[in-house]
Amino acid sequence: MLPDTLRWNDKTKQLEILDQRRLPREVSYLRCSTVEDVARAIETMAVRGAPAIGIAAAYGVVLTNPMTHDALKESLSRLARTRPTAVNLFWALNRMEKVAEGTKEALLGERLLTEARQIHFEDIEINRRIGINGAKLLPDTSIVITHCNAGALATGGYGTALGIIRAAKEQGKNIKVYVDETRPVLQGARLTAWELFQDGVDVTLICDSMAPFVMKKEKIHGVIVGADRVARNGDVANKIGTYGLAVAAKYHGVPFIVAAPVSTIDPACLEGDKIPIEIRKAEEIRKLPGGMEVPEEIPVWNPAFDVTPKELVTAIVTERGVLYPPFEEAIARLFA
Ligand code: MRU
Repeated sequence: MLPDTLRWNDKTKQLEILDQRRLPREVSYLRCSTVEDVARAIETMAVRGAPAIGIAAAYGVVLTNPMTHDALKESLSRLARTRPTAVNLFWALNRMEKVAEGTKEALLGERLLTEARQIHFEDIEINRRIGINGAKLLPDTSIVITHCNAGALATGGYGTALGIIRAAKEQGKNIKVYVDETRPVLQGARLTAWELFQDGVDVTLICDSMAPFVMKKEKIHGVIVGADRVARNGDVANKIGTYGLAVAAKYHGVPFIVAAPVSTIDPACLEGDKIPIEIRKAEEIRKLPGGMEVPEEIPVWNPAFDVTPKELVTAIVTERGVLYPPFEEAIARLFA
């Protein structure tokens, strides 16, 4: 049984966040009592993954104190400044803002908590549907590659990309998964490998640079990844390294499958170049395994995400069905 990624404690009125920085060594929770606690947990990646960030932020809004319309504005703006790329954050904050509009101050706390819970539990249901829709794309015996963590840990539960793997396994399919370790924060090695192993999935960890060679050596039935934001034309922002994986998949004729809830599609964003890419601290790259460090004088560039052009994407699996190229038209129909 996997620990919950996020849980609201009704007694203490705290948001309990599974501290993913400590996984897999330790399962422990951060107890957040203020908006600032939640904002810092998102910034430092104690909670991460596009849907989970959105859900955490929604609960974060509930911690506004005093619960007034003015204070709420501050909370929304603080939480919106945490991480720029995953659109689910802004989508969830918009939902919270809409609920607050026109609600009397005395009722704000209760209404906002109900909405945060709704966003949380809807997400699990959405992931199950993504799983069922995506599992159809996998043959009964499949070998797949995944990158980063788009699992239960990155969502309200079940996962998007890993939801497809879970659903396929639940249907009795025989699935083997190669997991990229995902430098520099190692979400693949620390989170995905652990998450899938706990669920009894046949999992093998590889370094990011090994994925193309795996595609050359073995019949791979799909690369399955999550997304932080999908532009209106179908370009996909996801964890750094996804683009290279998509290029290798194209070369080897491997289907490149993106799993994402509709809330990850940003119809206001015309193309991938317009997606804001978070640049994170150099120390994430400087700190090497075994306690070694790259000297401070050496410049480092640490973009947390890249953009995979739509031409490299075979399918986008959502809770409302599977989108195929031309994505611009498929996405327009979805939002029509
Ligand atoms: O920096 P992270 O760990 O928040 O990045 C996470 C990813 O890139 C995931 O693939 C994406 O958010 C989808 S999670 C369902």
